[in-house]
Amino acid sequence: MFVLQKRKCFSALGKCRFLLLLLLLLSTQTLLAEEHYNVMPEQAMGHSKFSSPALLPLPSPVIIKKNSRQEKIISLGYHLYRDRHLSGDDQFSCFDCHDLNQGGSNGQTVARQGSTLNVPSIFNMYNRVNFYRNGRAHNLSELIDMAISNDDEMASDWRKILSYLKQNSFYSKQFQTLFKKAPEKESVNHVMTSYVRQLAATDAPLDRYLSGDGEALDRCQKRGYEIFLSAGCQACHQGSNIGANLYQKLGVVNNYEEKIIDGSEVGTDRDRRQITGRSEDRHRFLVPSLRNVTKTAPYLHDGSIDTLRDVVELMFQYQLGRDVGEAELSSIVNFFTALEGQLPEQVK
Ligand code: HEC
Ligand code: HEC
Repeated sequence: MFVLQKRKCFSALGKCRFLLLLLLLLSTQTLLAEEHYNVMPEQAMGHSKFSSPALLPLPSPVIIKKNSRQEKIISLGYHLYRDRHLSGDDQFSCFDCHDLNQGGSNGQTVARQGSTLNVPSIFNMYNRVNFYRNGRAHNLSELIDMAISNDDEMASDWRKILSYLKQNSFYSKQFQTLFKKAPEKESVNHVMTSYVRQLAATDAPLDRYLSGDGEALDRCQKRGYEIFLSAGCQACHQGSNIGANLYQKLGVVNNYEEKIIDGSEVGTDRDRRQITGRSEDRHRFLVPSLRNVTKTAPYLHDGSIDTLRDVVELMFQYQLGRDVGEAELSSIVNFFTALEGQLPEQVK
């Protein structure tokens, strides 16, 4: 078994491929570099160099002191996060879609009936500056407001939420103790923002590896990491979120056909074009973070791809413009297990 595994990660064929990949990388990088600078006048997003290795460990989240007011706010957030009465039809809580046991997503193709969008993970939002697949929210507090009214999410409104919280004795007591007032939009938003900020899935094997623990990745994961870098994946999936810091088109090198249902394009109603108004931003999305990606199937903005193998193969074809061999494919999928982080106990 061991021998087999060893061969899979270090075969002579693998080594030849690796050299070929390096050559290929040089050409792809140029192409992507042009694309990158074309599409990234939003320089505010930072990380604009293609220097490799371009993956960084997650920074530490804010540590909450035991028995502090902040700890009490977060435990109130724990309840709001799980309360279906905050949604317009009393059917959904944040947890129902952003399930902490499913990588912060819901395992479904799309969010809810009538929606065309797959649910992205809610983990590691504390480390983000742009939110949503088209980047329309710029901070977490703004996002919470949008999540409340968004038809793909809570489809609710503050009037309903506040009147529910005020007539509920548990909540009104909690808000009175913590804010000396009845619940209001600002305090509820603050509580939810504080809770979501704590959903930090840190200490993944790759974080330990990048922080200097050479043993944190096993041989196969290391191999996958090398291939991930040399193939050019990090041109788009980069930084400490391994993504989520630039916008890119699905189908950069080869045209990716949209799924058409009932005559309309699925998912493109939420692409970057909706924000910039530029036709070249059609089918361009915030590049997803690959952290905890082993747990968030199905994939892509529309949830159209069920497995990691299939989505990586698609990335090679449409984002890098080439086919992928079995050894590279399984190495990269193996590498993704090194991106699984741990949530703190207090939020679970
Ligand atoms: C019915 C499913 C559903 C519910 C309920 C829901 N969400 Fe979402 N959430 C989504 C979808 C779909 C998106 C992507 C929307 C988009 O990109 O336009 C999303 C995106 C997000 C994001 C941004 C993730 C990213 O990668 O940019 C955060 C944070 C978030 N939701 C938090 C919440 C919070 C907090 C609640 C509860 C108040 C909530 N959501 C309720 C489906 C849901
Ligand atoms: C040119 C930019 C670019 C390159 C290069 C690229 N990707 Fe992507 N990747 C994207 C975008 C954009 C999406 C999201 C598309 C969508 O949601 O429809 C994505 C989605 C993914 C997803 C699905 C994530 C999810 O949660 O839905 C995985 C996994 C992935 N890429 C892995 C890779 C790997 C592995 C490589 C290298 C072989 C790679 N990508 C190369 C831009 C890129």
